[in-house]
Amino acid sequence: MAASDNPSMRRRVPKRRDLAPLLQFKKPTWSARERRLASALTIDDLRRIAKRRTPRAAFDYTDGAADGEVSLARAREAFADVEFNPAVLCDVSAVATSREVLGKRVALPFGIAPTGFTRMMQSEGEIAGATAARDAGIPFTLSTMGTTSIEDVAAASPRGRNWFQLYMWKDRDRSMALVERAAAAGYDTLMVTVDVPVAGARLRDVRNGMTIPPTLTPRTVLDAFPRPAWWFNFLTTEPLAFASLDSWSGTVAELLDHMFDPTVTYDDLAWLRERWPGRIVVKGVQTVDDAKRLAASGVDAVVLTNHGGRPLDRAPVPFHLLPRVVAEVGSDVEVHLDTGIMSGQDVVAAVAHGAHFTLIGRAYLYGLMAGGRPGVDRAIEILRTQVERTMRLLGVATLDELEPHHVTVLRRLGPR
Ligand SMILES: Cc1cc2nc3c(=O)[nH]c(=O)nc-3n(C[C@H](O)[C@H](O)[C@H](O)COP(=O)(O)O)c2cc1C
Repeated sequence: MAASDNPSMRRRVPKRRDLAPLLQFKKPTWSARERRLASALTIDDLRRIAKRRTPRAAFDYTDGAADGEVSLARAREAFADVEFNPAVLCDVSAVATSREVLGKRVALPFGIAPTGFTRMMQSEGEIAGATAARDAGIPFTLSTMGTTSIEDVAAASPRGRNWFQLYMWKDRDRSMALVERAAAAGYDTLMVTVDVPVAGARLRDVRNGMTIPPTLTPRTVLDAFPRPAWWFNFLTTEPLAFASLDSWSGTVAELLDHMFDPTVTYDDLAWLRERWPGRIVVKGVQTVDDAKRLAASGVDAVVLTNHGGRPLDRAPVPFHLLPRVVAEVGSDVEVHLDTGIMSGQDVVAAVAHGAHFTLIGRAYLYGLMAGGRPGVDRAIEILRTQVERTMRLLGVATLDELEPHHVTVLRRLGPR
């Protein structure tokens, strides 16, 4: 049939009322930051913006991992390799993404993981993370290596749910002083990180000559030109100092080696358990045996993680470890998971395989580097939308309805 014989192709002069709906211009957004963040549809988009806006040493410190960065790549790959099995004809007009985590309701199945040196990534730092988490109804974890004090985070977000992450120092009295400050400031959960007896080999940092705070060398000055906003913020706000440490002028690796205590054992955990009044979580569990031993020791939750691949390279993939740990200890303790989460789909896959809760590290930091507090809001919003949409597409209305059968794990790698 010729086009002229097709009735829907018969030409006519357009009428004014046909054109009107086509001519609705969006109200322009004057804020460059808002425009930038609105253009980010995924966490990967936020990462790209973050990379453009952050000096190389700080970006690489965040983005990088140990040695060949295999632990992190495999963890992300494991999430990319899931296949979702949707159920159809289910009423998903309303979805509920909240659940009880360590005794209190959270609005979403993820919270903000502890990260050190956060104000170096972007000057708004921990306060941006804590207040964004508070407004989203999720927990924020302040790191021992944080760059805002325990009390300042609590004061900025008194209604927020704040958790404190502890690295047990060689000096036990100083560790205990931190724990007491966190309890006094109303933090309800202590997260003890146990997977860094010594610092990992972070080659990007070594190659970049990374120091904390960044020093002005001909290379960093050159790097600063295309990133004026970062430097302006950095130079016009409070100098970087550690929440809980004295000033330090060495490299990051030297600092970590100075701080971390390779003698920490299960006995030290029992010592802490006696002294901390709230919930206690152990972060850094990478084998079923350790998960069993910790569950028997009376902790409230274990976090399966390889620390974003930052200490040990070629470490177990937490998502692959998850079903075995849940089968062994899931009825005794909450099983949380992190490492590699870059989308709400990753969160849904983890929950379907039995994770009670998840944590995001870099996903939050990319948002922070891309646009301060609104950037963190955007990261949370992207993940929230993806969680809700994926749940609906899978035919589930609550987190408890997510089951292992919703996710097939297509493994590229498996133990022989
Ligand atoms: C820049 C950076 C700093 C971190 N600092 C700490 C820390 O001080 N304490 C800690 O327990 N974990 C720390 N982590 C690990 C995170 O808590 C979390 O386990 C990890 O980021 C999860 O992986 P993801 O980044 O793929 O989400 C850090 C991670 C990053 C990326």
